[in-house]
Amino acid sequence: MNFSFFKKAPVKPNLSFLGVDMHSHLLPGIDDGLKTVEQTVSFIRELHEMGYQKFICTPHILNGVHNNTPEKIEAALQIARSAIIEAEIPVTIEAAAEYMIDDSFENLLKADSKLLTFGKNYILIEMSYLAMPFNIYEVLFELQIRGYQPILAHPERYNFYHNDFKRYEEMRDRQILFQINLLSLSGYYGKEVKKIGEKLIEANMVEFIGLDMHHEAHLQMTKDFTSTKAFYDLVEKIPLLNKTLL
Ligand SMILES: [Fe+2]
Repeated sequence: MNFSFFKKAPVKPNLSFLGVDMHSHLLPGIDDGLKTVEQTVSFIRELHEMGYQKFICTPHILNGVHNNTPEKIEAALQIARSAIIEAEIPVTIEAAAEYMIDDSFENLLKADSKLLTFGKNYILIEMSYLAMPFNIYEVLFELQIRGYQPILAHPERYNFYHNDFKRYEEMRDRQILFQINLLSLSGYYGKEVKKIGEKLIEANMVEFIGLDMHHEAHLQMTKDFTSTKAFYDLVEKIPLLNKTLL
């Protein structure tokens, strides 16, 4: 008998084992993510149907490109939250930020400005995709002495680390937590990113899975990939912390 049909049959997406997403660009109109509050409501409705109960939205803070402030992010959060209540979607929505590590971030940090965090004083940070920031270790240290727990967004997407796996270990030695993108494991960002994502899982170096959702193609790909058994086979072995954020 041929069982291949069963192997290939799509499964119903069920992301309730994650429960909380802590990396997204779902707040309307403040970065390169969703543009309107109507989109926010529609995306959150679909993601709730897939099993999410809570969203910690993380708009970019990137000097000169996305000049967001805690006040601007709070205002967008209020707009999104009211619309979600109005639409009667039973989810919690909060906000923090995805901070780009650059000179301006270092200045913000050293001036003891208010930084947006979630959970156990977690702060989501990202690096340029082009090169490792020269001040990365100094910034990590400055964050930690102020009591922040850095989470590096999508470590698997920094190509300059791909042939230098030791760099990941250096970060781990400095107690940095890692968040990989769900879509990285699908091959959406390329074969190499997928491979490194899997390698990080194998090496027990992943604490969070995030959607990093920006637009319709991300939502569609997320639905497609989470309809495959391959996705669950890959992630079920990870001792994730997403649910601790409920
Ligand atoms: Fe992001």
